[in-house]
Amino acid sequence: MLVLGIETSCDETGIAIFDTERGLLSHALHSQILLHSEYGGVVPELASRDHIRRVLPLIKQALHSADCHLHQLNAIAYTQGPGLAGALLVGASIGAGLSFALNIPALGIHHLEGHLLSPLLSRPAPAFPFVALLVSGGHTQLMRVNAVGDYHLLGETVDDAAGEAFDKTAKLLGIDYPGGAALAKLAQQGRPGHFNFPRPMLNSGNLNFSFSGLKTAALTLINKQDITEQIRADIACAFQQAVVDVLTEKSLAALAQTGLKQLVVAGGVGANTELRNTLNHRAANQNATVFYPELEFCTDNGAMIAFAGAMRLQTTLHQNWQPARSFTVKARWDLERIEQSDD
Ligand code: KG4
Ligand code: ZN
Repeated sequence: MLVLGIETSCDETGIAIFDTERGLLSHALHSQILLHSEYGGVVPELASRDHIRRVLPLIKQALHSADCHLHQLNAIAYTQGPGLAGALLVGASIGAGLSFALNIPALGIHHLEGHLLSPLLSRPAPAFPFVALLVSGGHTQLMRVNAVGDYHLLGETVDDAAGEAFDKTAKLLGIDYPGGAALAKLAQQGRPGHFNFPRPMLNSGNLNFSFSGLKTAALTLINKQDITEQIRADIACAFQQAVVDVLTEKSLAALAQTGLKQLVVAGGVGANTELRNTLNHRAANQNATVFYPELEFCTDNGAMIAFAGAMRLQTTLHQNWQPARSFTVKARWDLERIEQSDD
């Protein structure tokens, strides 16, 4: 079965074609980072308009690279939420329109389900059940994943998401939005241990996180110091180490609590090399294995949506998929309540 995936929940237009027999056939992506960078964050109205401009050319491009025709598609999977309502509406309306015109099912996919199943696109792939650490710009959650659609929340951030903390601290260091990857690069020049940031909620006795205090710690240091290039790098290094330590400790605690030996890391912050190195090292000491998506599928993309759609088509969860006659988007949508229809 050929599934077209459409991702438009935030600032990336992602399109992909996944074949349940042959795997991922093609994917195409347009990032709006440059469009939003002069505003220091995503401007929702500009995001929606840009998705409208990009989505059809990218679908044509993905079909062409996969060497297949629109009429060969068996289903359309689009991101239904959570995300920016206007941006989601672009993908949902194109997905529903194509589904109706081609008389094939339309599947509204949860964006975070896309992220957490994305490591299953790589080889070796984890087997169910596993623990997933979802670390993106909008979310930081630890989930127990029993099967497609069966997700149990173990812990989450009580304030900022890890990616949001990276972006806010990067901004304080004069790095353009979204600054996570650039901050990580700057941190490589930092002197480990030169500054020491707090490890929020490390000993809270649960699997929740808190990251909003870290940008305050960074701001306090910035206000106290002569900010040389070396000091900027030292602050980036200390900030990153604090986030990595907390994410690592809580992920290992989640493995211990569930008795599982597989950890899946998904979302944009999962691209962070320091996080990967630390997690790999610490998990190996506990005979656990860590799985990541390919680097290009850590941040938002269409491949994870096409794949999640294909997984859902193949499960027995929904056997009566119909061509779309209407559609809704869910700007807020709890992953644990994914099976409950509230529209
Ligand atoms: O998953 P994603 O593309 O979008 C959301 O659904 O939020 O994640 C984007 C986030 C941004 O906050 C970005 O700064 C962060 O992931 N990010 C990184 C790295 N690459 C992207 N954070 C730390 N280190 C990186 N290498
Ligand atoms: Zn995302």
